[in-house]
Amino acid sequence: MHTMHRKRMMLVTLPPLVISLLLFIIFFNVQVIRSPLIPSSKTIILQTQFSLLIGILTRVDNYNHRHFLRLIYGIQSSPIAKIDVKFVFCNLTKPEQRILISLEILRFNDIIILNCTENMNNGKTYTYFSSLPHVLPHKYDYVMKADDDVFIRLEPLALSLKPLPRVDLYYGFVIPCASMNPFVEYMSGMGFLLSWDLVEWIGESDIPREEMFGPEDKMVGKWLKMGRKAKNRFSNKPAMYDYPGTNGKCSHELIPETVAVHRLKRWDRWSHVLEFFNVTKQVL
Ligand SMILES: *[C@@H]1O[C@H](CO)[C@@H](O)[C@H](O)[C@H]1NC(C)=O
Ligand SMILES: *[C@@H]1O[C@H](CO)[C@@H](O)[C@H](O)[C@H]1NC(C)=O
Ligand SMILES: *[C@@H]1O[C@H](CO)[C@@H](O)[C@H](O)[C@H]1NC(C)=O
Repeated sequence: MHTMHRKRMMLVTLPPLVISLLLFIIFFNVQVIRSPLIPSSKTIILQTQFSLLIGILTRVDNYNHRHFLRLIYGIQSSPIAKIDVKFVFCNLTKPEQRILISLEILRFNDIIILNCTENMNNGKTYTYFSSLPHVLPHKYDYVMKADDDVFIRLEPLALSLKPLPRVDLYYGFVIPCASMNPFVEYMSGMGFLLSWDLVEWIGESDIPREEMFGPEDKMVGKWLKMGRKAKNRFSNKPAMYDYPGTNGKCSHELIPETVAVHRLKRWDRWSHVLEFFNVTKQVL
């Protein structure tokens, strides 16, 4: 009340030019505050530091699971990274798939169909990485390959990548389970990441082309070793791991600083994990 009164008194005694100037400033400020586009787009330009494609390798017929994973990743984001999540599978094989997958593409535009026959260790990961430079509309700084039974927390993932090199990088959970040396063998197929230069190298080099078949994660480690690539490596332990009690020394208890939990093959595990990380806490 007092301030209002003082303000009105002040306005009355001020010359018209100052009043219009004041009104202009007030109006301008209000406009800036009310317009959500101006500050938010500025923030994104200032803060987004890199881009990441997460390709979840899955099967065409896993419709319900894709729906679930779209919820899981649709509610996450990171202010420092532009992260796209896409589902990756081989050629369609049944008539109804053309219709159903077309609907998903129309609605979500998050599907990559590779020119291959569905397989696990017969070169799907090779086809995935080597196709990307041709099928993507633009490059990314990083490309990840992830399983469909892993929960990835995008914000901690982005934060862990922030200080790392943008080139010649191989990131993940190093195998063997107990090892802390990222150069010893290879990164587990649960979710590993390559910088874009390595994705291009996989598409161009003869080394991967001649060593396509075998355990997909192990083969990637082998190619990089043979090609003397990935001088920069980062094994994110203990932040990446298998669900407690499912895989010996690759497993441990859930921890707050988690980036990825793997082997979520059952609903009770998914719900335990989502509950632990308070994903739905504010809602019900
Ligand atoms: C798809 O793969 C088949 C079999 O490997 C090959 O014959 C064909 O040329 C490929 N098509 C394209 C568009 O790459
Ligand atoms: C995948 O489908 C395309 C188009 O139908 C076909 O040309 C190609 O040979 C198929 N590739 C494989 C590996 O089956
Ligand atoms: C979840 O919320 C509880 C209660 O606020 C808190 O104590 C706990 O640290 C949170 N868990 C994580 C992983 O952030």
